This record gives sequence, structure tokens and C-alpha cells, in this order.
Amino acid sequence: MLGVILRRTSARLKRDFVTERCFSVAAFASRNFSTSNALQSENEELVKLGFVGAGGVSFGTKEGPWNHSVRLERMPNVQFTAIVDPDLELAKQRVKEHSHGENGHKWEGCQVFKDYHEMLEKTTKDKKPDAIIIGVPPWLHGSLDVPSSAMEYDLAKAGMHMLIEKPISMRPTEEVGRLGKELERIADEQSLIIAVGYMLRYNPAIETAKALLEEIGRKPVSFVGRYNCTYNNIAKPAWWDTLKSGGCIVEQATHFVDAMRYLSKSEFKRDSIQAVGVGPDMELSDMPPPPGAEHTVKAENRVNRATIALFKFENGAVGSLNHTLLMHGSNFYTELDIFGDGFAIAIRDPYQNPAVFVRRPHSDDLVEVPLDKKYDMYEKQFEGFLHAVRTGDQSNMRCLFQDAARTYAASWWITEAAGYPPPDGSKPE
Ligand SMILES: NC(=O)c1ccc[n+]([C@@H]2O[C@H](COP(=O)([O-])OP(=O)(O)OC[C@H]3O[C@@H](n4cnc5c(N)ncnc54)[C@H](O)[C@@H]3O)[C@@H](O)[C@H]2O)c1
Repeated sequence: MLGVILRRTSARLKRDFVTERCFSVAAFASRNFSTSNALQSENEELVKLGFVGAGGVSFGTKEGPWNHSVRLERMPNVQFTAIVDPDLELAKQRVKEHSHGENGHKWEGCQVFKDYHEMLEKTTKDKKPDAIIIGVPPWLHGSLDVPSSAMEYDLAKAGMHMLIEKPISMRPTEEVGRLGKELERIADEQSLIIAVGYMLRYNPAIETAKALLEEIGRKPVSFVGRYNCTYNNIAKPAWWDTLKSGGCIVEQATHFVDAMRYLSKSEFKRDSIQAVGVGPDMELSDMPPPPGAEHTVKAENRVNRATIALFKFENGAVGSLNHTLLMHGSNFYTELDIFGDGFAIAIRDPYQNPAVFVRRPHSDDLVEVPLDKKYDMYEKQFEGFLHAVRTGDQSNMRCLFQDAARTYAASWWITEAAGYPPPDGSKPE
């Protein structure tokens, strides 16, 4: 429906694109979301960084725009001192590749370890990372009760700041909630930043939507999220295995679950959630060939092709979330609409080409709002993180672990409503 409105108003949009009102919103957005300007400053304190996991999220992949190492190495006064990965050859290759680049000096002396215990035991004080970026398969971290998956707990006790990739775990939501409390306690005691990479909170479209909600000053009443993923380039069997990845909502649409929590400033009501799905028995024509994708995954563990959920928030608002694994090509097709008394906010394509349209109270016009796209969302997230590590100022840390634990729980509640058993604490084979 909104798509029709958008098409109908596109001619008018061209006329109205630059309005005083639009500029006032953009200015409002930048006032509310200051950045540390770490990119500009050459006088910042040195931060030693380590990676746990040398895979795609931290070092790049053809699946998407993420690559934490290239963004981080562009920031001033960082030094990479450790990469941990059981695939030591991969870790060495990452160091070698980066050592030859423009920022190669920042990788000089970077050590590799097969696990984080070894890193903690063997690094000397001058090489011990101040902060760790965790990007590992979900079932290997985020536990409090199982020592072999208690990576965050151990690293926090060792005094390390962390930026952790979602999904933050595959353990029962109650246990992850307890882990969140423990991490919060340790973080308070040792002045640590323990944050999670729900990077859409730094996306210019989400930032602007949040600023618009504040400016309009009316409660959002209905959220409609559509997260359509391209599947033909996902060649990791574990991704296609609900027992290892959590499935499409916990692994992926969790970003929209988080965005809805963030924008509604409310929590999902578990007992309101209803969901239906199209299961893995639907064949996908462009499935990556064996040995990638789901060919070796047990049929009953394979992920849904489509999931639709309906839910209420604790503040009375309602929402729906549609996730599909149906697109070809490489660009996700993602949209999030917000409706309230007299207004609509339409967030378009936050991953590739973010845009926001607003229809204000007492108006028939849907107008595009100019966005500040100076930094990308990952870069901005890391700016906030490094600034917080250096100064302790968390004002631009938008998702600490305990907050992410609530997104994790809501993502599981939807998954459970769609017919998958919740994580039972057992380890996948
Ligand atoms: N926020 C985003 O935009 C985004 C994008 C991509 C991936 N992710 C998330 O990042 C996480 C990692 O994804 P990926 O694509 O990098 O996966 P990947 O499979 O490419 O890489 C994971 C790496 O972790 C290593 N590993 C396994 N066990 C380990 C251990 N105990 N200690 C250290 N390393 C270990 C593996 O050998 C592998 O190299 C996933 O949870 C994924 O959902 C987030």
C-alpha cells in the first residue's frame, strides 16, 4: 500500500524534496546523535585490538558489505595485536593480506592464536588487546553455564572491552539474560564496554526515523517490517541449520526485531506473538551447490523460506515482521514502516541505499527526508565503540549486551511461534 503511495507521490517528491522542514529534521538528527569524530583525530590514545574469529564479518565476504577490519584499520591510533581462530592458516593469511595494505604498519607484530585461552595466557602486556571484536558462529559463544562457550564471560573477567556480533548466543534465553546481568556487573566493576553489533542503530535511515519520532512527538502505533534476503550467495551449511544459526529470525531478521525495540522504546509481549512460515520443503532454484548451503543439513533442521509474525508491544503498539529467503542477486530488499496518529514514516533499503519518507500530521504529502550519509553504519558503530573504550563515555554506545539479550529473546520467541523448538541448551552435533 505504501509502495503505491510512494509511486503516486514520486512526482511531487521531486518538487518537494528540499524543504525547510526536511532540513530541520536532518539538523535535529545530527544534534541527537553526535559522533566522536575519531576518524578526524590523530591525538587519540592508542587502542590495541584483537579479533576472535577471522571469518567473513571481520574480514569481508561476498555475502554483504560488512568487513570490520578494513573499517577499523582506517581509524587513527589503533594497532592490531591478535587474531584468534582455530583455523590458524586463515588467521595468518588475514595478517599477511592486511600487512601489505596502506595501513600495513597497524598490523605489524599481530599474533595469531588457535583459541582465546591461549591468547590470554601467551600475550605479553604490550600485546594484550584492550578490546576484542567477536565474530564467531553463534553456537560457540554467549554462555554462562557451559565453560566451552563462555567466551564473553572469560574475556570480560580478563578485563577486555568487547564488540560482539549477533546472534549473541544459541543458549536458552533465560541463561543469556543471566549472562547479560553478569557482564553488566563485571563491566561496572572494571569500567568495560561490552556492546553488540546491532549496527542498524547507527544507520542514517534508522537515526533519522528516531529523530522524526521525537520531533513529531506522537506514539508509534504500528510497525511493519519486511526483510527479504538474497540466498544464492550464502554457502555456509551452518547458516542453513536452525540448530547452529538459530534460523532466519535469530540469525538475520533479528536486526529488524532490534530496530523495532529501539524505535518503539518498548518490548515484545511474548504471549501476543503469532507466526507462520513456509518451511524448507519448498525448493529454492538458486541454492548454492554442494558442499555449500543446506545439502548436508538434516531436513528437519533446515531454515524456513518465509516467516511472518504478528505481535504486540508492551506499550500497546502492534507490529508485523516478514522475513523471506527468496531474493536472487546480492542486494537485500528491506523496508520498515511506522504508523501513528496522523503520521507515517517509511524506511527504505537501510543496507544499500538508505532512504526515509515521512507523512506528517495534517498532511497528505509523503516527503523524502535528506539523510546524512557521511559515514556508513559500521564505521559509526566502531567510532562510538573506540571513543567509549578510550574515554569511558558510553553516550554513543547504542546497544550494550543486556539490551541485545532482550532482542535475542524476542527473536527466539518469534522463531518458537513459527514452529521451531527454542534452544534447549544442548550442543548441536
Ligand atoms: N552485523 C552484521 O552485519 C553481520 C554480518 C555478517 C555476519 N554477522 C555475524 O557474525 C558472526 C560470524 O559470521 P561470519 O560470517 O564471520 O562467519 P564465518 O563462518 O565466516 O567466520 C567465523 C570464524 O570463526 C572461527 N571460529 C570458530 N570457532 C572459533 C573459536 N572458538 N574461536 C575463534 N574463532 C572461531 C571460524 O574458524 C571462522 O573463521 C555470525 O554470528 C554472523 O551472524 C554479522
